[in-house]
Amino acid sequence: MKIILAKSAGFCFGVKRATSMAFDSADSHERICSLGPIIHSPQLVEKLEEKGVSVVGRVEDIHEGAVIVRSHGITADEMADLATKGLEVVDATCPFVKIAQDHAALLSSEGYVVVLVGEEEHPEVQGIVSYAAGVDVYVVPDQAKAEGIPRSKKIGVVAQTTQPFENLRQVVDVCLRKSKELRVFNTICDATSVRQGEARDIARQVDLMLVIGGFNSANTNRLAQLCSEIQPRTYHVETAIEIDSAWFDGVQTVGITAGASTPQWIIDEVVDRVSGLKK
Ligand code: F3S
Repeated sequence: MKIILAKSAGFCFGVKRATSMAFDSADSHERICSLGPIIHSPQLVEKLEEKGVSVVGRVEDIHEGAVIVRSHGITADEMADLATKGLEVVDATCPFVKIAQDHAALLSSEGYVVVLVGEEEHPEVQGIVSYAAGVDVYVVPDQAKAEGIPRSKKIGVVAQTTQPFENLRQVVDVCLRKSKELRVFNTICDATSVRQGEARDIARQVDLMLVIGGFNSANTNRLAQLCSEIQPRTYHVETAIEIDSAWFDGVQTVGITAGASTPQWIIDEVVDRVSGLKK
């Protein structure tokens, strides 16, 4: 069987940086936790737990030691609370997320109504919103919702880093009609679109597609969905153990990709497992 492995499979820059900061800090600290799971990979979170990094859900529950802030970032209030408690912060917020937070802060300080293109429930979005203080902030997932924003003299737009560019463009179109002055920061990171484009290309060339990543990872689920629209024989697995040899009947070419929070060792195990299958 021929295997086509996506070049972009696995960690993006921000996740790679956050995980290596977490492992380094685990070695150098006695008491350390992460505020929420560091990435959406249960296997990696387990490895960190073995090294003493516990996962804590709320700032209120942390009383001592160091705290790792994950790549999505946290709210300005949570950051301030950590400082007030005198806790050491290992800030692994992705620099691209930081830029979105900074732009939201800048827009609000200059009196713009802030429109954030993204998913309201996502921790990254909640973090970015928290930096836009003292002005109205609207989180809109799409153009249709943007139509509900009231007219304003000055509107400033930022986006959740993983948003599709087309979505941002459509919301910007609406905001242009609703304002006298519009300022747009394109805060989209292309890691997501690069992975999705490559996954689609591969799915078109193969008889079966494997997408590796946490079942709780939104970007992996999205990759699996996009691939299955092109190749119905698409399987989403978290690890090599889940792979069933019966899936591969009549398969000549297998495509493999992985979400931005999938560790390299899991990708290697899947490739080994597929390579070892007898046809
Ligand atoms: Fe950062 Fe982009 Fe990854 S914003 S965490 S490099 S998807």
